[in-house]
Amino acid sequence: MLYLNLENKLSDNNKVVIVGAGTMGAGIAQVFSLSGYDVSLYATSERSKNGALASIRSSLERLCKKGIVEQGAAEGALSRVKFVNHWEAIAEAGVVIEAVPESIEVKKTVLEACDNYLRPDALVGTNTSSISITRLACFLSDPSRLVGLHFFNPAPLMSLVELVVGVHTSPTIKEGAVRLIEKVGKVPIVVQNSPGFVVNRMLCPMINEAFFILGQGVASAEEIDQGMKLGCNHPIGPLGLADLIGLDVLLSIMDVLLEQTGDSKYRAAPLLREFVDAGMLGRKVFRGVFSYE
Ligand code: CAA
Repeated sequence: MLYLNLENKLSDNNKVVIVGAGTMGAGIAQVFSLSGYDVSLYATSERSKNGALASIRSSLERLCKKGIVEQGAAEGALSRVKFVNHWEAIAEAGVVIEAVPESIEVKKTVLEACDNYLRPDALVGTNTSSISITRLACFLSDPSRLVGLHFFNPAPLMSLVELVVGVHTSPTIKEGAVRLIEKVGKVPIVVQNSPGFVVNRMLCPMINEAFFILGQGVASAEEIDQGMKLGCNHPIGPLGLADLIGLDVLLSIMDVLLEQTGDSKYRAAPLLREFVDAGMLGRKVFRGVFSYE
Protein backbone atom coordinates (compact mmCIF):
# COMPACT_ATOMS: atom_id res chain seq x y z
CA MET A 1 0.00 0.00 0.00
CA LEU A 2 1.23 3.48 -0.72
CA TYR A 3 1.12 5.87 2.23
CA LEU A 4 2.71 9.20 2.95
CA ASN A 5 6.30 8.87 3.99
CA LEU A 6 6.52 8.77 7.77
CA GLU A 7 10.12 7.64 7.93
CA ASN A 8 10.98 11.22 8.75
CA LYS A 9 11.34 12.03 12.41
CA LEU A 10 8.22 12.96 14.25
CA SER A 11 7.47 16.56 14.97
CA ASP A 12 9.15 17.90 18.09
CA ASN A 13 6.96 20.97 18.30
CA ASN A 14 5.16 21.52 21.58
CA LYS A 15 1.66 22.10 20.27
CA VAL A 16 -1.05 19.55 20.92
CA VAL A 17 -4.63 19.60 19.73
CA ILE A 18 -7.17 17.57 21.67
CA VAL A 19 -10.46 17.15 19.85
CA GLY A 20 -13.38 16.72 22.24
CA ALA A 21 -13.82 18.60 25.51
CA GLY A 22 -15.67 15.99 27.55
CA THR A 23 -14.34 14.28 30.67
CA MET A 24 -11.48 12.53 28.89
CA GLY A 25 -10.58 15.41 26.54
CA ALA A 26 -10.37 17.85 29.45
CA GLY A 27 -8.35 15.40 31.56
CA ILE A 28 -5.89 14.70 28.73
CA ALA A 29 -5.56 18.42 28.01
CA GLN A 30 -4.64 18.97 31.66
CA VAL A 31 -2.02 16.21 31.56
CA PHE A 32 -0.30 17.73 28.51
CA SER A 33 -0.50 21.35 29.69
CA LEU A 34 0.96 20.39 33.09
CA SER A 35 3.90 18.89 31.19
CA GLY A 36 4.56 22.17 29.37
CA TYR A 37 2.68 21.58 26.11
CA ASP A 38 0.56 24.31 24.50
CA VAL A 39 -2.83 22.69 24.21
CA SER A 40 -5.68 23.64 21.92
CA LEU A 41 -8.85 21.97 23.12
CA TYR A 42 -11.46 21.69 20.40
CA ALA A 43 -14.90 22.28 21.91
CA THR A 44 -18.05 22.45 19.81
CA SER A 45 -20.17 24.47 22.23
CA GLU A 46 -19.86 27.09 24.97
CA ARG A 47 -21.34 24.52 27.33
CA SER A 48 -18.64 21.93 26.72
CA LYS A 49 -15.95 24.61 26.86
CA ASN A 50 -17.20 25.88 30.22
CA GLY A 51 -17.54 22.33 31.55
CA ALA A 52 -13.99 21.43 30.51
CA LEU A 53 -12.56 24.63 31.98
CA ALA A 54 -14.38 24.06 35.29
CA SER A 55 -13.16 20.46 35.46
CA ILE A 56 -9.51 21.41 34.75
CA ARG A 57 -9.67 24.25 37.31
CA SER A 58 -11.15 22.07 40.01
CA SER A 59 -8.72 19.22 39.38
CA LEU A 60 -5.72 21.58 39.49
CA GLU A 61 -7.02 23.12 42.71
CA ARG A 62 -7.28 19.67 44.30
CA LEU A 63 -3.77 18.75 43.16
CA CYS A 64 -2.43 22.05 44.58
CA LYS A 65 -4.21 21.53 47.88
CA LYS A 66 -2.51 18.16 48.22
CA GLY A 67 0.89 19.63 47.33
CA ILE A 68 1.19 17.43 44.22
CA VAL A 69 1.29 20.49 41.94
CA GLU A 70 2.66 23.92 42.85
CA GLN A 71 0.42 26.96 42.48
CA GLY A 72 2.66 28.50 39.80
CA ALA A 73 2.72 25.28 37.79
CA ALA A 74 -1.08 25.06 37.96
CA GLU A 75 -1.47 28.65 36.77
CA GLY A 76 1.01 27.98 33.96
CA ALA A 77 -0.89 24.85 32.94
CA LEU A 78 -4.18 26.72 32.86
CA SER A 79 -2.68 29.50 30.75
CA ARG A 80 -1.40 26.97 28.21
CA VAL A 81 -4.89 25.59 27.49
CA LYS A 82 -6.83 27.50 24.86
CA PHE A 83 -10.16 26.58 23.37
CA VAL A 84 -10.70 26.43 19.63
CA ASN A 85 -13.61 25.58 17.37
CA HIS A 86 -11.92 25.60 13.98
CA TRP A 87 -9.95 22.82 12.32
CA GLU A 88 -7.13 25.14 11.22
CA ALA A 89 -5.57 24.72 14.68
CA ILE A 90 -4.63 21.17 13.60
CA ALA A 91 -2.12 22.58 11.09
CA GLU A 92 0.12 23.87 13.92
CA ALA A 93 0.18 20.70 16.01
CA GLY A 94 2.81 18.01 16.30
CA VAL A 95 0.32 15.81 18.14
CA VAL A 96 -3.42 15.51 17.59
CA ILE A 97 -5.54 13.36 19.91
CA GLU A 98 -9.21 12.68 19.37
CA ALA A 99 -11.32 12.15 22.48
CA VAL A 100 -14.82 12.46 21.06
CA PRO A 101 -17.74 10.16 21.99
CA GLU A 102 -17.39 6.43 21.46
CA SER A 103 -19.15 6.26 18.08
CA ILE A 104 -17.45 5.15 14.90
CA GLU A 105 -19.45 7.68 12.84
CA VAL A 106 -18.44 10.59 15.09
CA LYS A 107 -14.78 9.49 15.11
CA LYS A 108 -14.83 9.07 11.31
CA THR A 109 -16.10 12.63 10.85
CA VAL A 110 -13.43 13.99 13.18
CA LEU A 111 -10.52 12.01 11.71
CA GLU A 112 -11.51 12.92 8.15
CA ALA A 113 -11.79 16.60 9.10
CA CYS A 114 -8.36 16.51 10.82
CA ASP A 115 -6.85 14.74 7.82
CA ASN A 116 -7.23 17.87 5.68
CA TYR A 117 -4.99 19.89 8.00
CA LEU A 118 -2.47 17.44 9.49
CA ARG A 119 1.21 18.32 9.29
CA PRO A 120 3.18 15.61 7.48
CA ASP A 121 5.12 14.88 10.69
CA ALA A 122 2.17 14.85 13.10
CA LEU A 123 1.29 11.89 15.30
CA VAL A 124 -2.42 11.15 15.57
CA GLY A 125 -3.77 9.48 18.69
CA THR A 126 -7.23 8.17 19.44
CA ASN A 127 -8.50 7.77 22.97
CA THR A 128 -11.04 5.15 21.92
CA SER A 129 -11.72 2.64 24.67
CA SER A 130 -13.02 -0.13 22.39
CA ILE A 131 -13.18 0.69 18.68
CA SER A 132 -10.64 -1.02 16.42
CA ILE A 133 -7.56 1.13 15.82
CA THR A 134 -7.05 -0.57 12.46
CA ARG A 135 -10.57 0.42 11.41
CA LEU A 136 -10.21 4.02 12.62
CA ALA A 137 -6.81 4.36 10.89
CA CYS A 138 -8.50 3.87 7.53
CA PHE A 139 -10.24 7.23 7.93
CA LEU A 140 -6.84 8.93 7.47
CA SER A 141 -5.11 9.20 4.11
CA ASP A 142 -2.01 7.87 5.87
CA PRO A 143 -3.25 5.19 8.32
CA SER A 144 0.28 4.50 9.54
CA ARG A 145 0.24 7.62 11.71
CA LEU A 146 -2.66 6.57 13.97
CA VAL A 147 -2.02 4.99 17.34
CA GLY A 148 -4.39 4.27 20.22
CA LEU A 149 -3.62 6.41 23.28
CA HIS A 150 -6.05 5.04 25.81
CA PHE A 151 -5.99 7.19 28.93
CA PHE A 152 -7.89 6.17 32.05
CA ASN A 153 -10.38 8.21 34.03
CA PRO A 154 -9.54 10.47 35.87
CA ALA A 155 -6.69 11.09 33.43
CA PRO A 156 -4.75 13.48 35.71
CA LEU A 157 -4.54 10.78 38.41
CA MET A 158 -4.25 7.49 36.55
CA SER A 159 -0.71 6.44 35.63
CA LEU A 160 -1.45 4.08 32.75
CA VAL A 161 -1.86 4.71 29.05
CA GLU A 162 -2.59 1.74 26.81
CA LEU A 163 -0.70 2.34 23.61
CA VAL A 164 -2.61 0.42 20.98
CA VAL A 165 -0.91 -0.60 17.77
CA GLY A 166 -3.05 -1.34 14.71
CA VAL A 167 -2.10 -3.20 11.54
CA HIS A 168 -0.95 0.00 9.85
CA THR A 169 0.68 1.82 12.81
CA SER A 170 4.28 2.57 11.82
CA PRO A 171 7.20 1.76 14.15
CA THR A 172 8.13 5.47 14.08
CA ILE A 173 4.71 6.41 15.39
CA LYS A 174 4.72 3.64 18.01
CA GLU A 175 8.14 4.65 19.33
CA GLY A 176 7.22 8.35 19.20
CA ALA A 177 4.06 7.59 21.17
CA VAL A 178 6.00 5.72 23.86
CA ARG A 179 8.31 8.72 24.29
CA LEU A 180 5.38 11.13 24.29
CA ILE A 181 3.49 9.24 26.99
CA GLU A 182 6.62 9.00 29.17
CA LYS A 183 7.21 12.72 28.66
CA VAL A 184 3.81 13.53 30.17
CA GLY A 185 4.60 11.37 33.20
CA LYS A 186 2.48 8.33 32.34
CA VAL A 187 3.42 4.69 31.96
CA PRO A 188 2.63 3.12 28.57
CA ILE A 189 1.90 -0.52 27.92
CA VAL A 190 2.08 -1.53 24.27
CA VAL A 191 -0.93 -3.55 23.22
CA GLN A 192 -1.87 -5.07 19.86
CA ASN A 193 -5.23 -4.01 18.49
CA SER A 194 -7.82 -6.42 19.88
CA PRO A 195 -11.41 -6.09 21.21
CA GLY A 196 -11.32 -4.21 24.54
CA PHE A 197 -7.49 -4.08 24.34
CA VAL A 198 -6.13 -5.36 27.69
CA VAL A 199 -7.62 -3.43 30.60
CA ASN A 200 -11.23 -3.03 29.48
CA ARG A 201 -11.38 -6.67 28.39
CA MET A 202 -10.84 -7.62 32.04
CA LEU A 203 -12.39 -4.64 33.80
CA CYS A 204 -15.69 -4.24 31.95
CA PRO A 205 -16.87 -7.88 32.31
CA MET A 206 -16.11 -7.60 36.05
CA ILE A 207 -18.25 -4.45 36.35
CA ASN A 208 -20.93 -6.03 34.13
CA GLU A 209 -21.03 -8.99 36.52
CA ALA A 210 -21.73 -6.56 39.37
CA PHE A 211 -24.86 -5.43 37.45
CA PHE A 212 -25.95 -9.09 37.08
CA ILE A 213 -25.46 -9.58 40.83
CA LEU A 214 -27.41 -6.42 41.61
CA GLY A 215 -30.18 -7.34 39.13
CA GLN A 216 -30.55 -10.80 40.68
CA GLY A 217 -30.97 -9.27 44.15
CA VAL A 218 -27.96 -11.12 45.53
CA ALA A 219 -26.73 -8.02 47.41
CA SER A 220 -27.32 -4.27 47.51
CA ALA A 221 -25.21 -1.85 45.45
CA GLU A 222 -23.47 -0.69 48.63
CA GLU A 223 -22.66 -4.24 49.68
CA ILE A 224 -21.38 -5.24 46.25
CA ASP A 225 -19.03 -2.26 46.24
CA GLN A 226 -17.99 -2.83 49.83
CA GLY A 227 -17.16 -6.42 48.87
CA MET A 228 -14.63 -5.41 46.24
CA LYS A 229 -13.22 -2.48 48.24
CA LEU A 230 -12.60 -4.43 51.42
CA GLY A 231 -12.16 -7.89 49.92
CA CYS A 232 -9.83 -6.95 47.07
CA ASN A 233 -8.49 -3.54 48.12
CA HIS A 234 -9.98 -1.80 45.08
CA PRO A 235 -10.03 1.98 45.64
CA ILE A 236 -13.64 2.14 44.47
CA GLY A 237 -16.32 -0.54 44.05
CA PRO A 238 -17.39 -1.77 40.57
CA LEU A 239 -20.74 0.05 40.62
CA GLY A 240 -19.17 3.31 41.81
CA LEU A 241 -16.58 2.86 39.08
CA ALA A 242 -19.36 2.32 36.51
CA ASP A 243 -20.78 5.69 37.57
CA LEU A 244 -17.32 7.26 37.14
CA ILE A 245 -16.74 5.73 33.69
CA GLY A 246 -20.30 6.40 32.51
CA LEU A 247 -22.85 3.60 32.14
CA ASP A 248 -23.34 4.43 28.45
CA VAL A 249 -19.58 4.07 27.83
CA LEU A 250 -19.54 0.77 29.73
CA LEU A 251 -22.53 -0.56 27.78
CA SER A 252 -20.98 0.40 24.45
CA ILE A 253 -17.74 -1.40 25.41
CA MET A 254 -19.69 -4.56 26.32
CA ASP A 255 -21.62 -4.36 23.04
CA VAL A 256 -18.37 -3.98 21.06
CA LEU A 257 -16.79 -6.94 22.91
CA LEU A 258 -19.82 -9.10 22.11
CA GLU A 259 -20.07 -7.94 18.50
CA GLN A 260 -16.37 -8.38 17.75
CA THR A 261 -15.88 -11.73 19.47
CA GLY A 262 -19.33 -13.33 19.18
CA ASP A 263 -18.67 -14.71 22.67
CA SER A 264 -21.80 -14.63 24.85
CA LYS A 265 -19.70 -14.19 27.99
CA TYR A 266 -19.59 -10.51 26.98
CA ARG A 267 -23.39 -9.98 26.90
CA ALA A 268 -24.41 -6.85 28.77
CA ALA A 269 -26.41 -7.27 31.96
CA PRO A 270 -30.07 -6.33 31.38
CA LEU A 271 -29.95 -4.00 34.39
CA LEU A 272 -27.02 -2.05 32.89
CA ARG A 273 -29.04 -1.50 29.70
CA GLU A 274 -32.05 -0.50 31.80
CA PHE A 275 -30.05 2.21 33.62
CA VAL A 276 -28.78 3.56 30.28
CA ASP A 277 -32.29 3.58 28.78
CA ALA A 278 -33.42 5.53 31.85
CA GLY A 279 -30.70 8.15 31.25
CA MET A 280 -29.04 7.25 34.55
CA LEU A 281 -25.54 7.41 33.10
CA GLY A 282 -23.50 8.03 36.25
CA ARG A 283 -21.66 10.97 37.76
CA LYS A 284 -21.78 13.11 34.64
CA VAL A 285 -25.58 13.44 35.00
CA PHE A 286 -25.42 13.21 38.83
CA ARG A 287 -27.38 9.94 38.77
CA GLY A 288 -26.38 6.40 38.02
CA VAL A 289 -26.35 3.43 40.35
CA PHE A 290 -25.74 6.01 43.09
CA SER A 291 -26.94 9.58 43.37
CA TYR A 292 -24.55 12.58 43.28
CA GLU A 293 -26.97 15.50 43.88
N1 CAA B 1 -8.21 15.54 39.84
C1 CAA B 1 -7.53 15.73 40.98
N2 CAA B 1 -7.82 15.11 42.14
C2 CAA B 1 -8.86 14.26 42.13
C3 CAA B 1 -9.63 14.00 40.98
C4 CAA B 1 -9.26 14.68 39.79
N3 CAA B 1 -9.93 14.52 38.62
N4 CAA B 1 -10.59 13.08 41.27
C5 CAA B 1 -10.45 12.79 42.57
N5 CAA B 1 -9.41 13.48 43.09
C6 CAA B 1 -8.91 13.45 44.45
C7 CAA B 1 -9.95 13.99 45.42
O1 CAA B 1 -9.88 15.38 45.54
C8 CAA B 1 -9.60 13.29 46.70
O2 CAA B 1 -8.57 13.98 47.37
P1 CAA B 1 -8.47 13.90 48.98
O3 CAA B 1 -8.15 12.47 49.30
O4 CAA B 1 -7.34 14.83 49.30
O5 CAA B 1 -9.79 14.35 49.47
C9 CAA B 1 -9.02 11.97 46.24
O6 CAA B 1 -8.70 12.09 44.85
C10 CAA B 1 -10.00 10.89 46.43
O7 CAA B 1 -11.21 11.27 45.75
P2 CAA B 1 -12.67 11.04 46.32
O8 CAA B 1 -12.69 11.21 47.81
O9 CAA B 1 -13.60 11.87 45.49
O10 CAA B 1 -13.07 9.57 45.95
P3 CAA B 1 -12.19 8.27 45.97
O11 CAA B 1 -11.48 8.11 47.25
O12 CAA B 1 -13.09 7.18 45.49
O13 CAA B 1 -11.09 8.49 44.84
C11 CAA B 1 -10.49 8.04 42.61
C12 CAA B 1 -11.44 8.78 43.53
C13 CAA B 1 -9.13 8.69 42.64
C14 CAA B 1 -11.10 8.18 41.22
C15 CAA B 1 -10.39 6.56 43.08
O14 CAA B 1 -11.66 6.07 43.36
C16 CAA B 1 -9.75 5.66 42.07
O15 CAA B 1 -8.57 5.69 41.83
N6 CAA B 1 -10.60 4.84 41.44
C17 CAA B 1 -10.20 3.93 40.38
C18 CAA B 1 -10.34 4.66 39.09
C19 CAA B 1 -10.23 3.71 37.93
O16 CAA B 1 -10.19 2.51 38.05
N7 CAA B 1 -10.18 4.29 36.73
C20 CAA B 1 -10.15 3.54 35.51
C21 CAA B 1 -11.52 3.54 34.92
S1 CAA B 1 -11.57 2.60 33.45
C22 CAA B 1 -11.21 3.68 32.25
O17 CAA B 1 -11.08 4.85 32.43
C23 CAA B 1 -11.03 3.12 30.90
C24 CAA B 1 -12.20 3.08 30.04
O18 CAA B 1 -12.02 3.09 28.83
C25 CAA B 1 -13.57 2.91 30.55
